[in-house]
Parts: sequence; structure tokens; C-alpha cells
Amino acid sequence: MSVLRTQVGIVGAGPAGLLLGHLLHLNGIDSVIVENRSRDYVIDRVRAGVLEQGTVDLLIAMGVGERLQREGLRHDGLYISFSGHRHHIDMADLTGGKAITVYGQNEVVKDLIDTRLSTARPLFFEAEDVSVEALESSSPLVRFRHDGADHEIRCDFIAGCDGFHGVCRPSIPEGVLTTYERVYPFGWLGILAEAAPSSTELVYTLHQRGFALFSMRSPTITRLYLQVPPDEPIDNWPDEAIWEEMLARMTTRDGWMPSVGRIVQKGVTPMRSFVATPMRYGRLFLAGDAAHIVPPTGAKGLNLAASDVLVLARALKAYYEHRRTDWLDEYSNVCLRRVWKAQRFSWWMTTTLHRSPDETAFDHQRQIADLDYLTSSRAAMTSLAEQYVGLPMEVGLDSVGLSSTPHRVS
Ligand code: APR
Ligand code: PHB
Repeated sequence: MSVLRTQVGIVGAGPAGLLLGHLLHLNGIDSVIVENRSRDYVIDRVRAGVLEQGTVDLLIAMGVGERLQREGLRHDGLYISFSGHRHHIDMADLTGGKAITVYGQNEVVKDLIDTRLSTARPLFFEAEDVSVEALESSSPLVRFRHDGADHEIRCDFIAGCDGFHGVCRPSIPEGVLTTYERVYPFGWLGILAEAAPSSTELVYTLHQRGFALFSMRSPTITRLYLQVPPDEPIDNWPDEAIWEEMLARMTTRDGWMPSVGRIVQKGVTPMRSFVATPMRYGRLFLAGDAAHIVPPTGAKGLNLAASDVLVLARALKAYYEHRRTDWLDEYSNVCLRRVWKAQRFSWWMTTTLHRSPDETAFDHQRQIADLDYLTSSRAAMTSLAEQYVGLPMEVGLDSVGLSSTPHRVS
């Protein structure tokens, strides 16, 4: 059996694990990342694509924003559409110049993997039977099989960055965690289409037939979503039926509609809100989807993973440089303040823009009034805008040795 020694064992090479690994590297802290999928699988997995201003600033300050700055699409505003009309919300104007950037999560992951490999610090793909042990001791272990051999990593700390279905959260003994959950009675059918985006900004629509979202990935690829039942088989949706429904829900009275093109990817995702607290057990720290998930309506998942690992990197840096343990002790509480605000925002976006099977006529009229108020009050638009571009990170970039100058993507 091979035995490796490191400071921080990181389980999962999604955005949380890869970002943490590089933040630690920049601070001279060693880590080993263990991922159970292949490199191609991790890179090709289609996920969300909206980066908050703070996430963009973090990636650029970490030196991994070069392609993001070249290829990312900066959006200063978005549209909310209901009752046949699109209403513009100028987020940059309402937030003193902040914006979001559309750049696929898989592109972020690709850039982070390239960066990790250039540091020559270990990253194992296709690890089998990953487990975490001795979490209460001062030397917790990550075990796995790789290329037919058994491996054991002896760590000072373990970061559980292995997503909602990972092994880290279930390794915490029963009774330690309190979980909070809401499962929504709908899911999203998402497509990627070879079609030039017909709007330069996102359009969130509440239609009689349900929610729809217009987004994009590049000047030639449109990304669209439709509300469907949560367990809807994708085979029920031939391409023509998808386009018919997308156009029915999104076309506005002024004639705006998404451009139609060849569908190159499609799938259905269920939606839930979930939080596990505390985000720590002994020397295991949970970050990102391993600790919480949000419905995608607020586009917060990846951004919360980024803010968690910033808080964790600050605490680990203070531990290694000054033997401080107070920031490790505060990790969960500091993260959860931002997590719960993002949960609330995602829940509000979701319940305001979707049609629920058990809603009453009253509920629907209230939704319309909510959207009417939102799009006609500068105060309400400012509230949406400041949350959509991202509430402040709980700790500054300077706390992990990075410059905190805000950046602009073209
Ligand atoms: N062992 C090792 N790795 C694992 C294991 C395991 N047992 N189980 C899961 N993983 C890996 C997954 O294959 C994945 O690459 O952990 C990684 C977790 O990555 P994500 O699910 O992307 O989660 P996270 O890094 O927290 O990023 C959050 O992802 O789900 C989206 O919307 C979410 O955008 C948000 C982001
Ligand atoms: C996306 O482009 O994939 C996207 C955009 C906004 C969301 C969710 C997903 O709220």
C-alpha cells in the first residue's frame, strides 16, 4: 500500500476542491486532491454558468482568470418577463458597477485542472472506493484505490468537496448534523443549442405554462431551460416538442423569442434546497455542494462553493502560519451566514417564477404582483440586483494573500 503525507486532503475535483487546492498552493500549503471520476467526465459535465462579481474577482486574483477575461461574457443586466412583457433590470447601475459573467462551470473546472497540473501537486482522477477516516484524530486519513493499488493519505485536515452525493458528509456520525431541506415539485429541462443568442442578457420568464429561462454559453451557443415535473423522462421530449414549448413560454408581445438551432445536449435536473450544519466534524470540513445545495434559479451553487473555500483557505492559512485555531472554529458559522442568504434568495427566485402544482389562483396573482412590484420599484430592483451579482464575501481576498482590486471582464 502506498502511503502519502500531506497537509490538506481534498476529496472531489469540482469547483470547490480545485479552488481550495489552488488557494492553498498560493499560500505554500500542500494538498492532495482525490476525484472518483475521470478528467474528461469532470470537464464535460454540463452545469451552470453564472459567475458573481466576487467569484470573477477571486479567479482573476488567483491567476486563473486569463481565459475567463477573454471568453467570459459580462452581463450588466438581466430581464424578468411575465404577462408577455420583458422588463430590464440594470444591475450595474443599481450596484455601483457590479455585473455577472457568463462562463460555463465546466470551463472554470478546465482552467483550474490545467492550473493544478502546472503546480505538479497531486491530483488523482478515477480513484475508487474513496473513504475518509479518523476524523476526530489529529491525523485523519483519505483512503482509495487507484490503478489497482491501495493508497492512504495521512493529512492534518480533510476538505470534503465531493458534492451532494459524495462520501464525506455521510461519514459524519449520525446525530451530529442538523439538515434542512426543501424539495420542489418541479425540475428543469435544460438544452444547449447551436443558435446565436437572440438577447445579450438572460431572460427569466414566468408564463401560464410555467417557468422558462434564456441563457447562453458563447456568441454561437444558446442555453435554455423549461420547468417540467421533477421526474420527467427526457425521452418524453423530442427536439420539436422542446422548441414548441420554449417558444410558447418565452415569446413576448413585442415579438422577441429565442433563436432556434440544433440541440446538442439535453437533460432534466430535479430542484432542491439543502443545508447541513455544522459544516465541520473534527478535522473534516465540508465545502460547496457537500454541505448545501440551492435550486439553480438564483445561479448561486458555484458561487457559494467559491465563498466557502475562501473562508476555509483563510482559516487554514492562519493555522499554518500562526497556529491559530479560532478561524477554523468559526468556519461553519461564517459560511452559513452567506449560505442562508443565498438559500433565501434562491428559494424566492424559485417560488416567484415557477408554477406549483398545488398553488391556488390567489398564489398566482400574488406572484404576478410580486413581479410587477419588482420591475417597477427601484428599491426592489436594487434588492434583486445586489443579490444576483453576489452579496459580499464574508472575508476579504487579502485574508488569503490576494489583491482585492475589482476586475472587469470585457
Ligand atoms: N470520491 C471522490 N470524489 C467524489 C466522490 C467520491 N466518493 N463523490 C463525488 N466526487 C466528486 C464529483 O465527481 C465531483 O467532481 O466531487 C466533485 C464535486 O463537485 P461538484 O458536484 O461540482 O460540487 P462543488 O465542487 O461543491 O461545486 C458546486 O457544482 O453542482 C454544482 O450547482 C453546483 O455549481 C455548483 C457547484
Ligand atoms: C445557465 O446559464 O446555465 C444558468 C443561468 C442562470 C441560472 C441558472 C443557470 O439561474
